[in-house]
Amino acid sequence: MHKITIAIDGYSSTGKSTVAKQLADWLGYVYIDTGAMYRAVTLYAMENGFISKEKFNKVQLIEKLPDIHLEFRKSSPAAKAEMFLNGQNVEDNIRTLEVSEFVSPIATVSEVRKKLVEQQRRMGAEKGVVMDGRDIGTVVMPEAELKIFMNASAEQRAKRRYLELVERGDTVTYNEVLANVQARDRIDTTREDSPLKKATDAIEIDNSEMNLEDQFHIILQLAKDRIAGR
Ligand code: DC
Repeated sequence: MHKITIAIDGYSSTGKSTVAKQLADWLGYVYIDTGAMYRAVTLYAMENGFISKEKFNKVQLIEKLPDIHLEFRKSSPAAKAEMFLNGQNVEDNIRTLEVSEFVSPIATVSEVRKKLVEQQRRMGAEKGVVMDGRDIGTVVMPEAELKIFMNASAEQRAKRRYLELVERGDTVTYNEVLANVQARDRIDTTREDSPLKKATDAIEIDNSEMNLEDQFHIILQLAKDRIAGR
């Protein structure tokens, strides 16, 4: 069957990765979580003391970029791909609130974006890919046949993210998570290089009042239409 590329962009914690993964599984496509790549670079910067609450040493991070090797690996064909940073599985470590707090400033650095976008374009060169992020439809795969832009209220997104973190056993408050969601929205949409914005040909979906199943069926139908050339 004719294969296409699908770009899913949108605000943080809109459930992009959940629906992107469901869609990729259903279509037998490869799913690429580009946020995981920015998170892994952030973890590297934290572990090497380049970023903390007190300082952000961009120059040192830029110098060390050639030493950062990112790779998605699967433990079995049906398993979710996990993020490996320099050969180490960091899938859990990149999902903490601490990483979420530092990831937006890291993602403003043009040299970081250039490195990751190049790798993402290589991964997206084959059709049969669902990629999610902030700049996929605008910068990474502007030629994608289907572009979705996901949105939901900040309160709704913070509630979902808070429940996820609590379930993982993290000790956070709803207000901390809401503050993080709002801060990331501000940095992601106002940064100079590739700010988060809807591609002119993207279809916007606000899922504040939508359940996962309905949302999946709407997006799957859009994908089927594109595959059929509609
Ligand atoms: O999707 P996520 O919440 O895991 O992404 C983490 C951060 O990475 C997000 O705040 C912005 C940044 N990001 C980006 O700038 N470009 C992308 N394509 C993906 C993520």
